[in-house]
Amino acid sequence: MDQLVIRGGKPLRGTIPISGAKNAALPLMVASLLTEDSLTLSNVPALDDIVTMSELLKNHGVAVEDVPGANRGRTLRLTAAPPVSTVAPYEIVNRIRASVLVLGALLARTGEATVSMPGGDAIGIRPIDQHLKGLEAMGAKIELKGGNVIASAPGGLRGATIRFPFVSVGATENLLMAAALAKGTTILENAAREPEVTDLAHCLNAMGATIHGIGTECLVVQGVEALHGAEHAVVPDRIEAGTYAVAAAITGGELVLDGARTDHLGAVFETMGKAGVNVSNGLGKVRVSHPTGRCRGFDVITHPYPGFPTDMQAQFMALMAVADGASLITETIFENRFMHAPELSRMGADITVHGSSAMVRGNPRLRGAPVMATDLRASVCLVLAGMAAEGETVVNGVYHLDRGYERLEEKLRAVGADIRRTQDDRAIVP
Ligand code: UD1
Repeated sequence: MDQLVIRGGKPLRGTIPISGAKNAALPLMVASLLTEDSLTLSNVPALDDIVTMSELLKNHGVAVEDVPGANRGRTLRLTAAPPVSTVAPYEIVNRIRASVLVLGALLARTGEATVSMPGGDAIGIRPIDQHLKGLEAMGAKIELKGGNVIASAPGGLRGATIRFPFVSVGATENLLMAAALAKGTTILENAAREPEVTDLAHCLNAMGATIHGIGTECLVVQGVEALHGAEHAVVPDRIEAGTYAVAAAITGGELVLDGARTDHLGAVFETMGKAGVNVSNGLGKVRVSHPTGRCRGFDVITHPYPGFPTDMQAQFMALMAVADGASLITETIFENRFMHAPELSRMGADITVHGSSAMVRGNPRLRGAPVMATDLRASVCLVLAGMAAEGETVVNGVYHLDRGYERLEEKLRAVGADIRRTQDDRAIVP
């Protein structure tokens, strides 16, 4: 098993290139199922989750080709020429939750889909009831059998007005894709406004869909007979950019985030400002710095976009762990997203969790320790804490990071971090 070994205390300085967003690339890849023409996606990050999604799409009969010569990220050409297989098997769905997005696209294109139910995961139960209710409102018949969602719409999907009781990124994306090819108009109220949803909507329009209200909480989709191919560049990863912004602040360094979209990071940078972190934006480049790495204590509540993202909560907890004074995090999106807290405590952080809130009392000195990553954002929070800690931190469970951070150690090493990947020998002792 791979581990990351980090020696803390090095201020990071330099420029980090920001990759395409994993959470945008995954639904965009699924959108290829909606047409028999080719969808070409550029700025796709090289990540394990993208490989898994390619595997799933190939299983559905999609030809996935790497187009050589991309100057940033990968360029993928996806062609879902008939016949399209409509079964998404457990072995793949189980590895990547975003697989459930094929449901809407397959139903819209072929009138049927059998998709294994995604299980819960470390950060919570994560049901898909809103995906299913929305599709039912559009005329789909849905049965749950043998751990699978079996859906059919023999006469095709029809437009409907769907009001989500709470904001769901995945349900909005699934229903957008379904509605693009449905008969009539679909109205999605209380829709997610995350930049990744907006990116999908723009790509669908480039493929011939008619979606109005993009970027608002009310999306109006006029269904069309067929979609066609398109070329689309994946939006830069705001969570990766936010993570490196924390890396600059927590190490008392200064980083330029090359390619980051500041307009997607409003709540993150506003919170950093309150903590005393310097964020400036000039000539299309964002610069983040802090003179000491010890910012002021501050509070954070996670909310759907444009609120503070739940996917940045763990990284900010690392920053709070070394802040001057107390900080409070309230997590409103997922029910079990503080698993990094006990691991940070092993490094000397002073954290008390009460239900959905965590009180963090800043401690000027964290000490390196062996720690275990439990999910993607929790793992990177431990890397951040390790870079601020005295001595050596060994982060286990690094495969989580490989799902979502492109060339993490390489990018960090290039700006001065002392970080290397090794193998845990104990894992191979008989
Ligand atoms: C996406 C992101 C994930 C991010 C999350 C919230 C991808 C691949 N993943 O996940 O990184 O943390 O948005 O910004 O884009 N819920 C239900 N029923 C449903 C759907 C959701 O109860 O049918 C609940 C979830 O359990 C969660 C909340 O709604 O508590 C928000 O989840 P959702 O926005 O759907 O997250 P994902 O799309 O799974």
